[in-house]
Amino acid sequence: MKIAIYPGSFDPITNGHIDIIERAVGLFDKVIVAVSKNFEKNPLFSERERLEMIEKSVVHLDNVVVDSFQGLLVNYASENNAKAIIRGLRALSDFEFEFKMALMNRSLKDEVTTVFLMPHAKYTHLSSSLVREVGELNGDVSKLVPSHVMKAVKEKFGIE
Ligand code: PNS
Repeated sequence: MKIAIYPGSFDPITNGHIDIIERAVGLFDKVIVAVSKNFEKNPLFSERERLEMIEKSVVHLDNVVVDSFQGLLVNYASENNAKAIIRGLRALSDFEFEFKMALMNRSLKDEVTTVFLMPHAKYTHLSSSLVREVGELNGDVSKLVPSHVMKAVKEKFGIE
């Protein structure tokens, strides 16, 4: 069984993340979407809220499991018999950080391979941080996140 981990902060999950998950399920038998608990920045959404938003966003997909993890990603991958780590690559600006992370993870555990997937071009500019910023300023994020996430973002900022 080919198992992949799709790790991230998912604060909140966006349509770009969902696009990557949908591509990954076509390539792997099981995809574990894993929320990192070692989020140094102050997250807008709690771990539980992020997990719930992801769960709702992947109900249409059979072979997806939603979980959270603490500590080293490569250890979590091994514990779950995953040989692949999925990361989305949007633009060249992602590359340097992703390249360093992939090589560090490889040096920690050579048998876990990072696989980069590109989301649809319409999501190239999209990030959770932009969703938070635009949402806080009451901008329209309806094309960027599922409707339940949009509602949660508005509620977080006390916007009707
Ligand atoms: O969505 P993000 O914030 O880009 O995800 C980053 C994440 C959570 C994948 C990364 O920070 C991570 O893997 N953290 C777990 C701790 C770890 O293994 N660090 C070493 C990676 S080089």
